[in-house]
Amino acid sequence: MRPVARTTVTAALPYANGPLHIGHIAGAYLPADIYVRCLRARGKEVLFVCGSDEHGAAITLRALKEGVTPRAIVDKYHALMGKAFQEFGIHFDIYHRTSSDLHRATSQEFFLQLDRNGAFTEQEEQQYFDEEARQFLADRYIKGTCPNCGNPDAYGDQCEKCGTALSPKDLKEPRSTLSGSKPVLRSTKHWYLPMDRSQAWMEQWINTGMLDGVQQHDAGEWKPQVLGQCNSWLKDGLRPRAMTRDLDWGVPVPLPGADGKVLYVWLDAPIGYISATKQWAQDHASAGSASDWEKWWKSDDTRLLHFIGKDNIVFHCIIFPMLLKLHGGYILPQNVPANEFLNLEGQKLSTSRNWAVWLHEYMERWPGRQDELRYCLGSILPEFKDSEFKWKDFQEKNNSELVSIIGNFVQRVFVLCHKYYDGRVPEPVGGDESDVVLWAGLSAMPDRVAAEVDRFRFRDALANAIDVARMGNKYLSDNEPWKLERTDPARVRTILYNCLRIVGGLSVVLEPFLPFTAQRMRTMLGLGELKWEDALRADLIRPGSPLAKPEHLFKPITDAEIQPEIDRLHATRTTAPSTGTLTAPPPASKPDIGFDDFAKLNLRTGTIVAAEKIPKADKLLKLTIDIGEPMPRTVVSGIAQHYSPEQVVGQAVVLVANLAPRKMRGVESQGMVLMAEDATGRLVFVRPENGVDPGSEVR
Ligand code: 2FM
Ligand code: ZN
Repeated sequence: MRPVARTTVTAALPYANGPLHIGHIAGAYLPADIYVRCLRARGKEVLFVCGSDEHGAAITLRALKEGVTPRAIVDKYHALMGKAFQEFGIHFDIYHRTSSDLHRATSQEFFLQLDRNGAFTEQEEQQYFDEEARQFLADRYIKGTCPNCGNPDAYGDQCEKCGTALSPKDLKEPRSTLSGSKPVLRSTKHWYLPMDRSQAWMEQWINTGMLDGVQQHDAGEWKPQVLGQCNSWLKDGLRPRAMTRDLDWGVPVPLPGADGKVLYVWLDAPIGYISATKQWAQDHASAGSASDWEKWWKSDDTRLLHFIGKDNIVFHCIIFPMLLKLHGGYILPQNVPANEFLNLEGQKLSTSRNWAVWLHEYMERWPGRQDELRYCLGSILPEFKDSEFKWKDFQEKNNSELVSIIGNFVQRVFVLCHKYYDGRVPEPVGGDESDVVLWAGLSAMPDRVAAEVDRFRFRDALANAIDVARMGNKYLSDNEPWKLERTDPARVRTILYNCLRIVGGLSVVLEPFLPFTAQRMRTMLGLGELKWEDALRADLIRPGSPLAKPEHLFKPITDAEIQPEIDRLHATRTTAPSTGTLTAPPPASKPDIGFDDFAKLNLRTGTIVAAEKIPKADKLLKLTIDIGEPMPRTVVSGIAQHYSPEQVVGQAVVLVANLAPRKMRGVESQGMVLMAEDATGRLVFVRPENGVDPGSEVR
């Protein structure tokens, strides 16, 4: 194996089409952040890049759903995600975006070089076309029945149920996700990557690590499930895959005769790692060194690692490495430590059903408690198989591990130092047998934590780091300094001095996992930034130096705090749309209106007094609404996938009372209930404050 001088770490570029949830964090970002922090503490040269994936159907379909432009979508979610990462302590060197000019230029150059190298074949072929929406249908624009598992909602690129990679023509009974209509076949030209030509070297590189006669990686270090997924693709035989799309949102294909065509998002997105590195180099360039980016991607002594979730494996292990090799000049990833999925309270995390813990919401509801979630997720990372987050486990881990083990140890040590030494570090005197045992045990710990991190075993690494606090607690309990203070104060000074050293060392080994807590511990000790080797330094703590007041690093979490989280999850859960069909045309933006236009609306407060499902209409509820008139109004509302009839009876609402009556499914609807849709697609009632009589005018 080649020597490693530096490491480039990438974390999957999340689609800028919605907020981040704990599944994203446990899949790629937390392990990547732990890895990078641990490397940095050990003085290694490392670059950590990420950014928003702002192209592809994930974005355009979201824009369609929200009735805004793709630009508005990516701007909104890029900002939201960047802020959430930062606040959660996931600290990239750069959080870039694929809609930037630099990315466009980088990916276009990359594509042109591939083209010059003869990496593509051009093919004119029949593809599905939606005549109503007047658009070709690839990827998520088309749904149908999965030929593998029979899932009726498989997408044109993948069945999310069984994970099979698909192309639109594999689908049975295809339908457009734009209009719901049955698509027709039409001819169009695309640039294909004939992956079959690379089958032989790809098989060898993945399974043996050998490429061009050089040992590039040790396949024994790759996770079995990553190798398994790659080999299942390879076994099926690699097939040509289109690298361009007929769309108007994306990086334009930079070739003549390619009007209206953009790069396939899975070609452009991973190049986003490279453009992010270029941007970082430009931002940090001392005169003339902007080309510094190249060493992170082109030097043989650079190790490239991609942190991703399991749904991204083939793109990072097969397609992107193939593109890098066919382009030439680039190193290939040395490992792709993909994680499996995180489930939530017994179910798959789902954005469309709002079955998720959203990161930005967590931080709003649990301010300053980032490390509590980092700890819980770190201890259940789905490293080799799917794992599960439960709010009760979160509470339990907080109370019996963070509070009882770490918090309790640090608190006891600081209380005693304040009691006996007025908040100053005591002077140690010699040592005894138990001290020898203590240091013998502790001296192995930093290396043990680092070794597990290096093997991408973050759960084990974290357990080892916590063991340092356990050892400290045991040392304190075994030695009982509170009983010795009268008889042997010199011994007590040594015990507590040793404990302060353990707190310092603990702050080092915990930092990759719990950076906020590690910082607080150092502040309490009056220490600045520490490196890994400081963990065991005998002179880390200076006798006589002041200590901050004892503080509780963690607070116990009560049932009364945790139950609302569980209730909220159930209360805000929605039913997945059965077809995913989007019927609303996308208003690019809404023009200003005058007050006269607004005044035409008759908005009234009301109360839902009865509700029932409308037969054979998945989305509709028939509502009976009292708006203070002699007869209640009947309103047909498209909320059945968000609320059951029982949930809405008694609900206060605002009604557009003068919307022209309209028949839906045989029921005359006499108005419209105002609803707000949040970033996750959840519908909530716009409602007056309590105490307003039904029929009050809203203006
Ligand atoms: O699955 C996703 O969220 C993709 N946006 C990941 C892209 S990773 C990389 F290739 F950019
Ligand atoms: Zn399937």
